[in-house]
Amino acid sequence: MKTLVMVAHPNLETSVINKAWKNRLIQETDMTVHDLYAKYPDGKIDVVFEQQLLLDHDRIVFQFPFYWYSSPSLLKEWQDMVLTYGWAYGSEGTKLRGKEFVLAISTGGPETAYQAGGYNLFSMSELTKPFQATANLTGMRFLPTFTKQGVRFLTQEQVHESAEELVRHLKKNY
Ligand SMILES: Cc1cc2nc3c(=O)[nH]c(=O)nc-3n(C[C@H](O)[C@H](O)[C@H](O)COP(=O)(O)O)c2cc1C
Repeated sequence: MKTLVMVAHPNLETSVINKAWKNRLIQETDMTVHDLYAKYPDGKIDVVFEQQLLLDHDRIVFQFPFYWYSSPSLLKEWQDMVLTYGWAYGSEGTKLRGKEFVLAISTGGPETAYQAGGYNLFSMSELTKPFQATANLTGMRFLPTFTKQGVRFLTQEQVHESAEELVRHLKKNY
């Protein structure tokens, strides 16, 4: 099982949690950690390179901080450019079929905010529906999401522990 972790954070230097996750995941030999903002500072995606990377892996992970109830913009641009008709979807677009797909998301808001009656109204399962639909359309199996919430108030120890939890989550058989 080869896992591709696509890290999408526009400023990893100031990041706490996504930087810690990335630094932990690069130690795993069966994982490829792909830092999108580092690879494409000009925002111009190399579609052939990205599609080959996807073909070379079985489990695809999108790791990002939650920005306006979604991902940072370069990951959306990546989806628009890379998941093309006839490749990722459409009757001939079968290249991702049978792969697995996982989200790993950090949020500033606490878990309690993400529910009916909470200040963000909706759960993470509801807010990540576009990703679930994308996995469905491209024939990938959507696996349970890894979330770490209320991240501003985490201790160094909790940040460290969340990175270990993430490794276990991404290596698990579902
Ligand atoms: C532009 C922007 C939008 C954000 N939108 C949300 C949001 O919709 N929900 C939320 O819980 N936190 C939101 N946040 C907080 C980030 O999710 C939080 O700072 C991030 O997960 C921390 O991860 P890091 O330490 O890797 O930067 C936002 C932050 C920024 C800068």
